Order: sequence, then C-alpha cells, then structure tokens
Amino acid sequence: MKSLSQILMLSLSIFLLSCEMKPTIGFLVANLEQERWQKDIDNFKANVEDLGGIAIVAVADSDEKVQYEQALKMIADGVDVLVVVPVNRTKACEIVKTAHKNSIPVISYDRLIKNCNLDYHISTDNIGIGELQANYLTKIKPSGKYGIIGGATTDNNAYLLKLGQMNVLQPLIDNGSIEIIFDSYTKHWSIHEGYEMTNKYLQESEDIDAIIAGNDDLASGAISALKEHNLEGKVLVAGQDADIEAIKNIVIGNQTITIYKPIESLSYAAADAAIKISKGIAPSNGSVTVNNGKRLVPAILLQAQIVNKQNIEMTVISEGFIKKEEIKKR
Ligand code: GAL
Repeated sequence: MKSLSQILMLSLSIFLLSCEMKPTIGFLVANLEQERWQKDIDNFKANVEDLGGIAIVAVADSDEKVQYEQALKMIADGVDVLVVVPVNRTKACEIVKTAHKNSIPVISYDRLIKNCNLDYHISTDNIGIGELQANYLTKIKPSGKYGIIGGATTDNNAYLLKLGQMNVLQPLIDNGSIEIIFDSYTKHWSIHEGYEMTNKYLQESEDIDAIIAGNDDLASGAISALKEHNLEGKVLVAGQDADIEAIKNIVIGNQTITIYKPIESLSYAAADAAIKISKGIAPSNGSVTVNNGKRLVPAILLQAQIVNKQNIEMTVISEGFIKKEEIKKR
C-alpha cells in the first residue's frame, strides 16, 4: 500500500510532467499599429491554449533587430515552434536560420519570409485581395483616373496586392480606359503616407476618380487629403483590414470598400499547424505551396471578403469582428 504522501508525490510528478509536455509556441508580431494585430494575438493565444499548448508573444514595434533579439530569447527559453509576422520579409531569414540551428521549425504568419528554408506559411490569398479591390472599383468606374497607394516595401504582401490589382487594371490601362495618376509603395503602412501621396497629387490636379490603398490606414490618410479638397465621397476608395475607422467611413460614404480578412480562421490555422508541427505531424493543407524564392513552402491561404455599405451587418458585425456600438461611437 502506498502512503498518502507517496500518492501526492506521484500526482505532483505526473502534473509537472504533463506541464512540461505542453508544446510552447512563440508568436513574434511585427507591431500593433493596425487594430487587427491585437485580434490576431488574442485569437492565437486562445487557440494554442485550447489545443493544449502554451503561447508566448512578443511585439517588435517595427524594429527588425528587436524582432531578432526576441526570437533569440524565445529560442533560448526553449520554444518548440516559432510563428512569425516578419518586420522585414528578407531579414527575417536570420530568425529562420538561427531557429533551425536549434531544431525549431518556423511558420510565417500573414506575411511571407523570403529566400530561406521556411517550414510553413499561413496567410490569406493576397493576390486575390488586390483583385477584389480593383474589380470592385472598376465595376463602378470602368474608366477614369486611378491612384495606387501600395503597402510597405519590407512586406511581401504589398507586392502580392499590387500583382492582383494590376491583373485587373492592366487590360483597362492598355485599352486606354484607365490612367494611373500616381502609383508608389510606402515605407510603412501609415495614415501619414496615404495622406502625403494623395495630397501631392491633389496640389497639382483635382482630376481623380479612384484610389486603391493597400490597407485602411493608407486609405484613411487618402480620405483626409480628399477632404481638404472637398472631394470626400466623390472619389472611390478601397482599403483593407476592416478597421473601425474604415467601416465608419464606408457608412458615411467616404470609403467604398474594405477587405475583411478571416483573422479567427487564420489564427486557428496557425495555432493548429504549430501544435501539429511540434508533435512531428505534418499539417494538412491540400498540397498548397508558395514559392518564397528558395523553396516551395507548404502553405494555407484563406479567402478574404469585400465589405461594402450593404453587407457590413452580414460580415464584420455578424461574425463579431466589430460591434455595432463601436461604429456609432464618434
Ligand atoms: C499586411 C497585412 C495587412 C495589413 C498590413 C499592415 O502585411 O496583410 O492586413 O495589416 O500588413 O499591418
């Protein structure tokens, strides 16, 4: 017969062993500048925990060196898998290389890490998002003067969006229906850059029909510049992320559409893949791969949705992404 203290010791060791066996997943996030990233973090943490793991999170405030240091710390702390939203699409390779030296697999989340032996990629179909934006606006205005405000050059998604936008716009440019009046990438994804680029054009001419912006912050800056020229609501504007500000602008008619990314599903897919990989199981992905310049990386690419004035209720509100009261707040 075992004594009570022996039984207690045994239960304690079993408990400690089960804690130790919980996979630890490190989530490295580039910054919290757009609302969506806090939602990504909250969902990711909850999903990892539901799947029996422990999630630790670090935010790099857009500094690639800080992100590398954060990765080193997580590697030293013994994470089983790293999930990374890279600050810089190529420099983040250093994270992958160091993690691999320590036998830690790396998944890139939302943004692809280029030119290295990345293990897995989870994102949305970003070329598809560019196509959705351009298709929507060109259906309303099949001809006219279009401005393009691209995303950050450090972010691979900026180039994919542009590919998608040009898939739609190029034939219309070639047949003379559409003229591109400005078109540039940005350094960040900031309101300020959206404002500057639009304002620069408006100083020269107010002849403009539509603006396709890489995200809602860039769109919001563009709308501020349009306002200064009394052009808000008269020019079509597309953004991305379904930020509250963008939804408010759509309600009052100053923005035409935004794109709603499936953050809950994205973070679930990443948590699920990370937990599986930590156990040596290959996540199922229907054989999708993306070429990151070095290898065909197994990937999961989810679909995004258009949000316009008519479907706000059916999309972001019904899915709990945004609360109705938030839209009404000034
Ligand atoms: C991109 C992402 C967008 C937007 C942007 C700014 O990588 O795809 O959804 O959030 O970063 O953070």
